[in-house]
Amino acid sequence: MHVGIIMDGNGRWAKKRLLPRSAGHKAGMNRMISLAEHAQRLGIKYLTVYALSTENLARRPREELDGLFGLFRKYFNDNIKKLYKSNARVKVIGDKTALPDDVAELLRGGEENSPEGAEFTLVFAINYGGRAEIINAVNRAVESGKKVDEREFAELLYTGSVPEPDLIIRTGGELRLSNFLTYQSAYSELYFTDVLFPDFSDGEFDKALSDYAGRERRFGKV
Ligand code: IPE
Ligand code: IPE
Ligand code: MG
Repeated sequence: MHVGIIMDGNGRWAKKRLLPRSAGHKAGMNRMISLAEHAQRLGIKYLTVYALSTENLARRPREELDGLFGLFRKYFNDNIKKLYKSNARVKVIGDKTALPDDVAELLRGGEENSPEGAEFTLVFAINYGGRAEIINAVNRAVESGKKVDEREFAELLYTGSVPEPDLIIRTGGELRLSNFLTYQSAYSELYFTDVLFPDFSDGEFDKALSDYAGRERRFGKV
């Protein structure tokens, strides 16, 4: 099973506590780390976390972005070894070229040093945009000089051989996908909750999963 999470509401979580937005991002990062462990314990094979969109990178204040890069640095320096030890690997989707060089390098290292044959994959969407991903795949197809079918096209996306998300969760109350897994979400089940991401507990995640378990996925059949 593949679950995607749009981790929204960090800023509002901080504001409610009269804290700077950066405190919300820090709390969100800590929540994400625990949630990934929880998902792995449940036997979920892929968890994709939307950490930074192409629009966030283009439109958020420099100071906020620098804070987020600091959190990514810390994660990839300090937390990743524990993840590897639990037989998990990391994959990054998004355009790394627009990130600070050292962050891009850390992300690359995080992917390359991942254990082979890991049972769980944590996919980080960083400077990720579904449209940019599709355009990139189209250009790769054009360069290859031959027509592609749906399966071959999917292989050209950043997600490559990662299966499509079965369930996409969005915290923070907004009812939209904000450029997340645009191509891959065609048949995903969607779950929206008002809970702000730093408050999205393991129990809330379980609630989303049991809601999903009650869905009937028809894929166009009767
Ligand atoms: C989501 O939280 C995290 C990122 C986009 C990096 P927000 O920062 O969007 O939090 P709100 O929506 O302002 O509460
Ligand atoms: C979506 O949240 C992106 C991430 C969670 C990384 P935003 O807060 O950027 O989305 P919009 O702007 O409300 O659509
Ligand atoms: Mg938001």
